Amino acid sequence: MRTGTQAASSRARHGVCWLALSLLVASCSISSSEIEAVTIQGTAVPPVPTLDVKRVQAGQELYTQYCAACHGLDLEGQLNWKLPKADGSYPAPPHNSQGHTWHHPDELLLEIIANGGDPALGATMPGFGEVLSEEQMGMILDFIKSHWGEEERQFQWWVTAR
Ligand code: HEC
Repeated sequence: MRTGTQAASSRARHGVCWLALSLLVASCSISSSEIEAVTIQGTAVPPVPTLDVKRVQAGQELYTQYCAACHGLDLEGQLNWKLPKADGSYPAPPHNSQGHTWHHPDELLLEIIANGGDPALGATMPGFGEVLSEEQMGMILDFIKSHWGEEERQFQWWVTAR
């Protein structure tokens, strides 16, 4: 009886060791795959373009002037942005890694910035196509991208380029 329990607990300890070992192996293979090529769902992520500092700075000025009132100076979005307001519309979401801006390809983001949200769907995001040039909207997007972590940038580049 006692030996049985000892055997079981030793098996359990072995189990823990195996788990630790396999996590170690997994983390090693993640870091080596980063050096080689990052793939998402079996498709390689093309090299993520380096952001131009001057464009990011110009984008920040435009963002502060046109976007920060709703999306926040630090891109933090409005409080409880996941919950609909009393009128059914949604608060402005964050544009940092916590939001979902990085889930969308460049083309869709630039389209939303230019045309705003669809009022028929209760969206209140205004369109800026009349106020800002395509170049300026691109620079604002570069500024937003400069706030994403490496993985968010890789994912967003993957959905943009595929
Ligand atoms: C008057 C408030 C307001 C201003 C100003 C504003 N937005 Fe928005 N934005 C919103 C809201 C609210 C949403 C959520 C969708 C909706 O209701 O239209 C949104 C959504 C977005 C989205 C979609 C995000 C996603 O993950 O789907 C993008 C991109 C965006 N805004 C960019 C901008 C940029 C860039 C500017 C400045 C040029 C800007 N917004 C200015 C309120 C605003």
